[in-house]
Amino acid sequence: MRSKLVAGNWKMHLSATEGVALANAVVSALGESADLDVVVCPPYLAIPAVKESVRNTPVKVGAQDVFWMEQGAFTGKVSAKMLSNLCIDYCIVGHSETRGRFGKLEVPASTVSHFAETDETVNLKIKALLYHAITPILCVGETQEERDAGKTVSVIQTQLEGALAGIDPAEMYGIVIAYEPVWAIGTGLTCASDEADRVCGLIRTRIAEAGSQDVADNIRILYGGSVKPDNARDLFSRPEIDGGLVGGASLEANGFSAIVAAAK
Ligand code: 13P
Repeated sequence: MRSKLVAGNWKMHLSATEGVALANAVVSALGESADLDVVVCPPYLAIPAVKESVRNTPVKVGAQDVFWMEQGAFTGKVSAKMLSNLCIDYCIVGHSETRGRFGKLEVPASTVSHFAETDETVNLKIKALLYHAITPILCVGETQEERDAGKTVSVIQTQLEGALAGIDPAEMYGIVIAYEPVWAIGTGLTCASDEADRVCGLIRTRIAEAGSQDVADNIRILYGGSVKPDNARDLFSRPEIDGGLVGGASLEANGFSAIVAAAK
């Protein structure tokens, strides 16, 4: 039986002080009897303060990205070893924004290449995180153009194959996958629950082929993309959807708490 997981990706929002206030509010709303995993993913600078504020509570902390080398002349990068030193539990990898694939292009096209993560770098990041016992939250998903061209399944299959290349099936138990259709991120266009469930089921089938049926039965697959308090319960009630990766709605304590409550 897979337990549900709800993760808030704060993206490039909130100072350390604001993050601590939000994390405290989430902890209060959650209460003591958490029968699911709740994760907040602040920007790097807020991680130490937020981590401290949720100590001895059920709320876990994740990072939004990582670099795969241990240390060295890599200006601006943060390694899995550094996250491990902070006892970080989760880390998002392969988000469509770090891949440079935006649902609605709010950044000038000239900056997209600054993101440009590839399936190969996603793979290196996952290996670095697993080495340090940090759970990767691997994001996969198609753009609107790819969906319209009927390429949803092949795009996701390519992303999964690249991200999981060379990873021992036994290690796949330590990974969470998030299906995040790019066109649903930050757009208010939620993927219909039946369709999200169908794609999550296809991802599970691919995991069975890449790992084993037991890995597929146990790995958690989240849905992300305009998850809100009013659609969360329907999404999370689907058999293949084990929770959510929430962006905008995770920035407000009441809304995020309502989404968490919907997963209970
Ligand atoms: P929104 O919930 O704002 O659509 O963002 C989803 C997301 O990108 C989570 O990683």
